[in-house]
Amino acid sequence: MKSYNELKAEMESIQQQMLELRKSELPSVSKAADFKNFTKYTRRQTIARFLAQVEIFKLVQNVKGSIVECGVHEGGGVFAWANLSVTLEPYMYQRKIIGFDTFHGFPETDEIDRASVGDFSVDYDIYSELKNCIIEFDSNRFLNHIEKIELVKGDANVTIPKYVEKNQHLLVSLLYLDFDLYKPTKTALEHFLPRMPRGSVIAFDEVNNPQWAGETMALLETLHLKDSELKSFSFEPNISYIKL
Ligand SMILES: C[S@@+](CC[C@H](N)C(=O)[O-])C[C@H]1O[C@@H](n2cnc3c(N)ncnc32)[C@H](O)[C@@H]1O
Repeated sequence: MKSYNELKAEMESIQQQMLELRKSELPSVSKAADFKNFTKYTRRQTIARFLAQVEIFKLVQNVKGSIVECGVHEGGGVFAWANLSVTLEPYMYQRKIIGFDTFHGFPETDEIDRASVGDFSVDYDIYSELKNCIIEFDSNRFLNHIEKIELVKGDANVTIPKYVEKNQHLLVSLLYLDFDLYKPTKTALEHFLPRMPRGSVIAFDEVNNPQWAGETMALLETLHLKDSELKSFSFEPNISYIKL
């Protein structure tokens, strides 16, 4: 039987091929026009995810600190936060969007994770592509001489402790946990939680999900659930969050 990840990858590949087919059937649609009319092509699940991200962003808009995305993959989350920040708070140059990933998929897994090393790797250089997207993004924002998006490449169990040690000023207003796995999620919680003020938000992509029990385990070992309201959205099934 195919694994969840294999089926998901197949489904995404078919959806992408259908999209390309539909686009190729249209008479000369420019790339810019495609993006301007993104609601024509974007699946409702993706729109629901973005709406949830907007709600979470609004919770931390007046909380000091950077946004940390744990698990960048192809960058949808990082660019959601970055676009929301430059649109809704164009002068907030101190808020960085910091994304941690190997950019080569899972570097290791634990038994609880029911996943394999290399899951989420793709057949192109995501890191270089994201760097190019950052150049494009920077060309269309205020204060673009100050870096907004920072990508930290490598195993987060190593890079997160190093990053926190090196950046002694760092405060975090939003910790978005989407590594899917036990160990890096625990590392992120242990190292970033002390940098998070009251009112800041920890968001989870996969808790209470039988496919990704490691994320729930890291949460249970780090926070007291009875002391925290774990909230979710009626319109988006995956994302939940705790306001500290
Ligand atoms: C579900 S994807 C992230 C999706 C992304 N947040 C989004 O919204 O599109 C999970 C990512 O976590 C990364 N990851 C998992 N364990 C890691 C680790 N120990 N160090 C760095 N990255 C890791 C994988 O490489 C993968 O890209």
